[in-house]
Amino acid sequence: MQEVTILAFESSCDDTSVALLSAKAGAHPVIESLAVQSQDDIHKSYGGVVPELASRAHLMNLIPCLKKVLQESGRRIADVSAIASTARPGLLGSLLVGHTAAKTLAYLHEKPFISVNHLEGHLASPLLEGELLYPAVSLIVSGGHTSLYLMKAEDDFTLIGQTLDDAAGEAYDKGAKLLGLGFPGGAALEQLARAGDEMRFPFSVVRVDGIQFSFSGLKSQLARFVKKADPQDYAHLAASYQRAILDHLSAKLKRAIEEYHPKSICVVGGVARNQELRRRMDIIVSSFTSIERWVAPRPEWCTDNAAMIAYRALQLYRKGTISSLSDDVGSTSRPPVRHAS
Ligand code: KG4
Ligand code: ZN
Repeated sequence: MQEVTILAFESSCDDTSVALLSAKAGAHPVIESLAVQSQDDIHKSYGGVVPELASRAHLMNLIPCLKKVLQESGRRIADVSAIASTARPGLLGSLLVGHTAAKTLAYLHEKPFISVNHLEGHLASPLLEGELLYPAVSLIVSGGHTSLYLMKAEDDFTLIGQTLDDAAGEAYDKGAKLLGLGFPGGAALEQLARAGDEMRFPFSVVRVDGIQFSFSGLKSQLARFVKKADPQDYAHLAASYQRAILDHLSAKLKRAIEEYHPKSICVVGGVARNQELRRRMDIIVSSFTSIERWVAPRPEWCTDNAAMIAYRALQLYRKGTISSLSDDVGSTSRPPVRHAS
């Protein structure tokens, strides 16, 4: 088998990213270069992502990211096997920037073009680190999504549960905003929580049926506590709020493990960077003898990045799943991510 190289673009929300992946016969695929340009400085004064500004920032950031990746990898566009880009779900204006750039380059250089589902990219991200054991249960915890998938094989995933309202990352961001920590506030809230007592504020347990999540009630409780609290209580509030979020994620993950008996667990998406979540994963996994290991990708492959898009594109390329140059972008996920019946 010949070497395969993939040039991938990711611009679904507010991170502009380009990656170059190479896969030699019999060897694990390698990310030769990854560029990620954050837009946090642009959006932080608005307390959230402003779609119009995000699209325009992608326009400015994309070519510098591409140049950096080509320079670092020493590759030329003319030599890659395929060009890929995230097509959905995401902000339409943002998606269009990476997608149109990728399609244009594919056309000019006569390369196969591959549209990638962003969530399938997150699901593929642990594979950047190495092989997985199947069946696996994968928890996506990001700013836009909180869902559980059953993976029977590398390319066989079924949605088994998701949030009814906010995503876990959104809960972190909204909590951080209430505590005056800026946007996006997940990492800052985790940092503040380190100095607090997680048992100080009594957040009530989230009750939702089955393998489903809900975070909006926790945010309302935090808003009520913040109104009455002194600023010196903020670290305790952050720690107690984080505990409530992680208790809920842990309870639903345990339920999925009991129902699907996986051999491995994956935690992916921006919130998977959280050290307290990683510490809890060690504890959860040690209480199930059937699970041999759990995996979270390294931090730069957790938050939105083109490395995971490149890996998913490699899987599709090897199956011969090539997209049309008139392929569109979309705000929702739609198939091929399948839902459990
Ligand atoms: O995966 P991602 O880059 O974007 C989406 O696909 O949505 O995730 C971004 C989210 C944000 O909500 C951010 O606050 C959260 O991940 N995040 C964290 C941490 N680092 C990033 N949440 C909790 N703890 C962290 N250390
Ligand atoms: Zn994402």
